[in-house]
Amino acid sequence: MDARSSRYHEVYARWQRDPQGFWAEAAREIDWFEQPKAVFDAKAGIYGRWFPGGVCNTCFNAVDRHVNAGRGEQAAIIYDSPLAGVKRTITYHRLMTETQVLAAMLRDLGVQKGDRVILYMPMVPEAVIAMLACARIGAIHSVVFGGFAARELATRIDDAKPKVILSASCGLEPGRIVAYKPLLDEAIALAQHKPESCLILQRPQAQAPLVAGRDHDWAAMRDDALVHARSVYECVPVAATDPLYILYTSGTTGRPKGVVRDNGGHMVALKWSMKYLYGVEPGDVYWAASDVGWVVGHSYIVYAPLFHGCTSILYEGKPVGTPDAGAFWRVISEHGCAALFTAPTAFRAIKKEDPQGKLLAQYDLSKFRALFLAGERADPDTVVWAEKLLKVPVIDHWWQTETGWAIAGNPVGLGLLPVKHGSPTVAMPGYDVRIVDDASREVAAGKMGSIVVKLPLPPSCLPTLWQADQRMRESFLDEFPGYYKTADAGYKDEDGYIFVMGRTDDIINVAGHRLSTGGMEEVLAAHPDVAECAVFGVKDALKGEVPCGFIVLKFGVNRPPAEIEKECVALIRDKIGPVAAFKLAIAVARLPKTRSGKILRGTIKKIADGDKWAMPATIDDPVVLDEIGGALKGRGVIGSPA
Ligand code: COA
Ligand code: AMP
Repeated sequence: MDARSSRYHEVYARWQRDPQGFWAEAAREIDWFEQPKAVFDAKAGIYGRWFPGGVCNTCFNAVDRHVNAGRGEQAAIIYDSPLAGVKRTITYHRLMTETQVLAAMLRDLGVQKGDRVILYMPMVPEAVIAMLACARIGAIHSVVFGGFAARELATRIDDAKPKVILSASCGLEPGRIVAYKPLLDEAIALAQHKPESCLILQRPQAQAPLVAGRDHDWAAMRDDALVHARSVYECVPVAATDPLYILYTSGTTGRPKGVVRDNGGHMVALKWSMKYLYGVEPGDVYWAASDVGWVVGHSYIVYAPLFHGCTSILYEGKPVGTPDAGAFWRVISEHGCAALFTAPTAFRAIKKEDPQGKLLAQYDLSKFRALFLAGERADPDTVVWAEKLLKVPVIDHWWQTETGWAIAGNPVGLGLLPVKHGSPTVAMPGYDVRIVDDASREVAAGKMGSIVVKLPLPPSCLPTLWQADQRMRESFLDEFPGYYKTADAGYKDEDGYIFVMGRTDDIINVAGHRLSTGGMEEVLAAHPDVAECAVFGVKDALKGEVPCGFIVLKFGVNRPPAEIEKECVALIRDKIGPVAAFKLAIAVARLPKTRSGKILRGTIKKIADGDKWAMPATIDDPVVLDEIGGALKGRGVIGSPA
């Protein structure tokens, strides 16, 4: 690998010289019903809009056009579920037929262009078909991850106001069946907005009772000849700037942000990324081991591989335990995957169970060309372990729900740049990444600062938050005028390599899942015996970080603190969901605060992580930090006040 043998610098410079020309060329890879009137309109939207005047359809580009081009018999989706014991291949032709039928079912339920449809689904092919069927008729989908509890689903129902919700009787987790339907019913009861109907997929592992007049049985409707007769053969033309989907992500408060994705820019950027960042070709088998409920699932299980004419793997299983730490090698060899994209956590889990990688010997990975990691910081130990074991490039890349594709990466398709462990390499074309101080002044190479992107953002990035333009400005654009705030901190070295070190807000990354500690604090604060609380992420060898909460009990509460701690753990699981992985609440007498009353969360975290920390000048009572350190040690959280 030599920086000079990569075309990256030439391509990035081409984008810098002529951004619009660059994206105009990329847009030629998309089938438009009507060509855009411009590549970019700086005056439209909040910071400009991509491909205004363009008319297109995302489902057409993901499915129909490949059938028209002769790819009908190629596998579009391979569903591989060790949890259900099922494997199923869906060709592009079959996928087209299924989206046509589901589109008809949605129309029968009253869904029209612009209506929202929530999906609360496990990792089954119907989830992918549902996303595409919405796109086919111009409806806006919003997928809610199955590990979220009813209250989280209710918040999203109230924000998106869906006409219809698509769900299933259950999801499957190792050793347990997660009944989704009671969670859905509870969410609808909690929400102010009521969907007109729900379409329920009854899985063989659990049957859910249906609510008369509201719920419909998916299979019965799908098999109805009259519905088939109404199959939606056309792909409804939508504006390039119309929303394709809303994906809620943790914000700085418990209220999630509805990230909006458009149709045109999304297709253009994702299609570009498949060839030049991931280095895959149409016909290749591509596997993103994530969940359709996350942005990685949206972009790289569903949309990008299909735009590119690849075969995408839909895996309902875990990296370990389904049945063992060789599960990923089995899938790669069985289906001939060219690339795997997952979170570093998955590899840490495999490394923990099979440190020598012995299970790999049973499998043929000759078609496997590259491993991509994102979703959280890729620790160099894990990257080096994977490099040695797999003997293919291991590529860390950095992005966010808001962007929909990589801000920084090492572009395989342009020729790899030398790897620097701990860095997701360089900015992708479209992103002018800067490191700035609090006054928006650029800092020198090697110095830490806030990572920002000079506006405009490239295609696929969020044009706004769902019906919340002002929140979009406040959250991302106001703090550093002229820039998009990533809310990540880090630095750039002399070679332009970006190092992403952590968030500047209350977001933590737990096993690659993005969670808000503020949201967890809201839940704990609602416990009748809790006076105040502080939730923070503690370093974890497997999950990267796990949440931990301090609670201060109300004066006069004389129940055993251990009992209340247990209730707090259960409360987070009940209100946010098991995915929060909140297992530790610690009752303390008081919290460390500044003289103005601000809780010193940063210092608490450093103590918990065993990092070096300095006594904050503004602290009210330094003794409290000793108490905190003692409490953490008492619970086995490694913390040694420096
Ligand atoms: N529906 C219901 N519950 C779910 C769920 C879903 N879709 N996904 C996860 N959960 C539950 C899990 O069962 C677990 O419950 P538990 O507390 O009863 O054990 C809890 O949520 C936490 O899940 P998770 O963080 O996934 O931890 P885990 O211990 O089950 O597995 C890993 C650990 C490393 C194997 C797992 O996190 C993993 O595969 N990570 C890959 C990374 C990834 O997919 N990232 C997504 C973004 S790229
Ligand atoms: P999400 O929106 O869930 O994809 O989470 C986005 C956040 O995850 C980013 O803002 C980062 O904090 C973190 N993240 C994602 N990828 C990386 C990476 N490669 N290195 C470091 N942090 C990452």
